[in-house]
Amino acid sequence: MTSSYRITLLPGDGIGPEIMAVTVDVLKALGRQLDLSFEFQEALIGGAAIDETGEPLPQETLTRCQESDAVLLAAIGGYKWDTLPRQQRPETGLLGLRAGLGLFANLRPATILPQLIDASSLKREVVEGVDIMVVRELTGGIYFGTPKGVFATETGQKRGVNTMAYTDSEIDRIGKVAFETAQKRRGQLCSVDKANVLEVSQLWRDRITTLAANYPDVTLSHLYVDNAAMQLIRWPKQFDTIVTGNLFGDILSDAAAMLTGSIGMLPSASLGADGPGVYEPVHGSAPDIAGQDQANPLAQVLSAAMMLRYALDQPMAADRLEKAVTKVLDQGYRTGDIMADNMTRVGCKAMGDALLSALEG
Ligand code: IPM
Ligand code: MG
Repeated sequence: MTSSYRITLLPGDGIGPEIMAVTVDVLKALGRQLDLSFEFQEALIGGAAIDETGEPLPQETLTRCQESDAVLLAAIGGYKWDTLPRQQRPETGLLGLRAGLGLFANLRPATILPQLIDASSLKREVVEGVDIMVVRELTGGIYFGTPKGVFATETGQKRGVNTMAYTDSEIDRIGKVAFETAQKRRGQLCSVDKANVLEVSQLWRDRITTLAANYPDVTLSHLYVDNAAMQLIRWPKQFDTIVTGNLFGDILSDAAAMLTGSIGMLPSASLGADGPGVYEPVHGSAPDIAGQDQANPLAQVLSAAMMLRYALDQPMAADRLEKAVTKVLDQGYRTGDIMADNMTRVGCKAMGDALLSALEG
């Protein structure tokens, strides 16, 4: 029997439409092979939505996402919209999507592929074997805390304010996801905070420590965020699963991503308590190379693999897609961001064609 899935596609801005097009072709081919039927519907988000409707997350987009089995997002943002007021910026659309779908847990794996070790800026012995999962809280912390805004003071100055806040239930639910993730991996969880300075972090640390009692098979450690940043670069292999708040997770997940050579390779999943998750590459919209057929579509394709595995419960299809990615790398195909000596440089579309052949083979 054919399994049928409703997938909302959010190509967004910059290189988004190019990498999404490749991914949809690949999913269609995979669907034909494995008798999966995808009902794709495209919706607007980010700058593309601003241009068309005046707002970065039209209600129609949110409704479509809510009604689908999973959401595949490419990337949002670009120079063109950088000077708009905050409510009309592409990033506000992305944050609205996360909040609107209740996606409090963001899973960002940083796994080094043997074929790409030399693309890392760090030494081979430091990065070989790196396999980290960053579990980032995504709908709380300083991104959403109030009060926020730019206010006039009594002395006539302007004062910009954001608030880093977490309730204990917000910490507990992301903590639970993180402990369960660590259980399925190597059983080590490192919680990252700034408890030496911030009250919100002290609460974070206390709650995570309390939760640990429920997971005797997981070894919990704590690091301050500055030290964690340093340790990630110094000896990344000490990490298995990392759990942290929204802002620290934003920063550390970029650092972890770069260990693997290119942020252009890394997928992510954003999940809520129920309802559809959003699957998207960790990288952004790369406006500098948009429309030039230079983008690396592999993080988007690997995000689709995460979607198949976690949202659609199609592990075989996910495996097949991941194997196709490994195969094209073994064959020496490289986009500019992961190019190395003696490899074959290809553009976004040609990488897509290579993936299609790899799937057929
Ligand atoms: C990310 C991005 C976003 C974030 C931006 C685009 C709002 O950097 O997904 O990491 O800060 O969360
Ligand atoms: Mg980021």
